[in-house]
Amino acid sequence: MLNRDVFINTYHRLPVVFNRGQGVYLFDVDSKRYLDFTSGIAVNCLGHNYPPLVKAITAQAAKLIHVSNYFQSDTSAAFAQRLVRAANMEKVFFCNSGAEANEGACKTARKYSLKKYGSGRHTIVTLTGSFHGRTITMQSASGQDKLHKNFGPFTQGFRHIPSGDIEALDRALDGSTAGLFIEPIQGESGVFPQTQAFIAAAAQLCVERDVLLMFDEVQCGMGRTGSFLMAHDYRVKPDIITLAKGLAGGVPIGAVLVGEKTADVLGVGDHGSTFGGNPLAAAAGLAVLETVDNQAFLKEIARKGEKIMTAVRSWNKSSVKEVRGKGLMIGIETDRDVQDIITACLKEGLLVLSAGKNVLRLLPPYIITDEEIDAGLSVLWKLL
Ligand SMILES: Cc1ncc(COP(=O)(O)O)c(C=O)c1O
Repeated sequence: MLNRDVFINTYHRLPVVFNRGQGVYLFDVDSKRYLDFTSGIAVNCLGHNYPPLVKAITAQAAKLIHVSNYFQSDTSAAFAQRLVRAANMEKVFFCNSGAEANEGACKTARKYSLKKYGSGRHTIVTLTGSFHGRTITMQSASGQDKLHKNFGPFTQGFRHIPSGDIEALDRALDGSTAGLFIEPIQGESGVFPQTQAFIAAAAQLCVERDVLLMFDEVQCGMGRTGSFLMAHDYRVKPDIITLAKGLAGGVPIGAVLVGEKTADVLGVGDHGSTFGGNPLAAAAGLAVLETVDNQAFLKEIARKGEKIMTAVRSWNKSSVKEVRGKGLMIGIETDRDVQDIITACLKEGLLVLSAGKNVLRLLPPYIITDEEIDAGLSVLWKLL
């Protein structure tokens, strides 16, 4: 393949080379068309070459691409205001990725606790199966053993409890705990939504014990599930919410959103990012918000997701063990090695993802039409 000799071999890259995208389609260098049910892992949420997004990026690039965060930019300020309002939070810090946003969240939780309660109350509780990113600290935070190898010593102060276990949660939120970090729908480990009961109990315990409730919505946020945020869907108000992936439709950006309690925890010199939220990324983010922060649009995402899940369930295929998810974040658990299915789909011109060994993950762009959904489903029906 083109890339083997020059890229460090950290990805299982499929044998296809893309050079163009349009709507829900990608085209390879030989002009073969592929229906994209991956959105660049939940990033290209409005598909490829989405006209308002391209227009916003182009116009901003011609005006101002970057100024450092030592100055202000009108576009970045407009985006911050609009995002904070849509999320129903107080303030935002911009960075470049999900892992970085989660680092900012954990720093905020630790400083909040240190200033209020003194040292020794720094533990951040996360859930088994969670994925929070690839920095050494976020691998430590993630609740998956495979991420706790090879790169030690890992960052101290994370404790993992089983998803959904309210008794374990009750025990873990003790006098040493600063924050509870939850991935509301665990994406990488197999598309597992948390239950309403668990989230409600978590929110209540966090308030009672002044432990910060933190949601990692890097994958499931920004409309992916048919709610702008899963926090809105669960009807809870976390103290911190992190976003990235779909936030600017493909331009790299991450965000740490903070609520009343945490709005002024970080001060000058505590945190920073050279690129974070620069005018180009902010212009892209504004264009995404313009489309996604809209109840009618979000409702369509939910409807399309239901359409896919209902269809796959109705096939009654013995190879399909379970269909899970919300909106356009869908996991199909199979009895097969999903890499084989992914490779077969690729040959048929359909791009799908894995989540764990046996789960096929679908993350189509929000703009997908019913006809395009049907086209993808007919390939899946053949190959599952
Ligand atoms: C829930 C969640 N958190 C964090 C991350 C890390 O994001 P990034 O790869 O942008 O650092 C991911 C990436 O898949 C994710 O799904």
